[in-house]
Amino acid sequence: MLCAVLLMSLFCGCTAEEKSGSEELRVGVLLFNEDDLFISSMKQEIDKCFRRKEKEEGCRITVSFSDSMGSQTTQNEQIDTFIKRGYDVLCINLVDRTDAAAIIDKGKKADIPIVFFNREPVSADLSRWSKIYYVGTDASEGGRLQGEIFLDYYKKYPERIDKNGDGIIQYVLLEGEPGHQDAAIRTESCIKKIQEGGVEMYRLAGANANWRLNQGKEKMEGWLTEFGNEIEVVISNNDAMALGALDAMSASQWSDIHIEVVGMDGIEEALLAVKDGRMMGTVMNDAQGQAEVIAKIAYKLGRRETPENMQDMNDRVVRVPHDKISAEMLR
Ligand code: BGC
Repeated sequence: MLCAVLLMSLFCGCTAEEKSGSEELRVGVLLFNEDDLFISSMKQEIDKCFRRKEKEEGCRITVSFSDSMGSQTTQNEQIDTFIKRGYDVLCINLVDRTDAAAIIDKGKKADIPIVFFNREPVSADLSRWSKIYYVGTDASEGGRLQGEIFLDYYKKYPERIDKNGDGIIQYVLLEGEPGHQDAAIRTESCIKKIQEGGVEMYRLAGANANWRLNQGKEKMEGWLTEFGNEIEVVISNNDAMALGALDAMSASQWSDIHIEVVGMDGIEEALLAVKDGRMMGTVMNDAQGQAEVIAKIAYKLGRRETPENMQDMNDRVVRVPHDKISAEMLR
């Protein structure tokens, strides 16, 4: 429907006859990098939510995903293609979150609304047009909950963490991508929460491992060689890097070493690791909840309606709450 039949015929080669009477909403979803474990789980959830919406609303919804493979230039070209094809609405997981202005202006010119997600445009960009939304989380809440997981665990099993019994926790830090809104803020609020809980922390080392399992593994291999059993806890900005640290620790030369790890996201592999005690806990970065909000807003915008106000929405920004996940909760 909403995709103008004329535009469809111009760009897709569909005839007006073929399209007449069909209520169709066309949604373009651009992913910054499908290799990213969290983003690939978001892709599945977004698809499921639109399939559900299709049934609920009795309207055909075509969802086309494209993988920008970590290149903003590629993503810009993909956006141009969706615009040329007259898509009704775009859901964009930016590669470079500081690069939204030109994209918003393109959407505005073509009157194609945009729901950004996971990689947050700066607020000045979000105010460029009223048909721009953002769906994500509150990074400081996520970090704070990681800190709480640590404190709960430390209270129960102090000896499993403070191995040298000096009352100070020696930690290493796996940070996400520099400049990503979820990296530095998660770190800062996690450490702050732990310190507020009365626990002294000492940072042995920290590095950006760019959300990646293999980079987390590499960094951890280096730290194990340098510090060995001195490391008492690994704080990771996400589960993929935490799983990389676990991989590094599983090498036979470290079989005598015990180091606690806390992650973030709640991806399947990490939930298993929490359940079987290889990770102290993780924080649920609710992919399903975020996908539901994205689908709800995109559906309304695509139909040229204004999305209703919802819980956790403020100035067209929705921050879906996190949850703590510990082994007890999974057993
Ligand atoms: C997630 C990471 C993911 C990143 C991608 C973060 O919110 O926690 O796992 O790699 O988003 O932008």
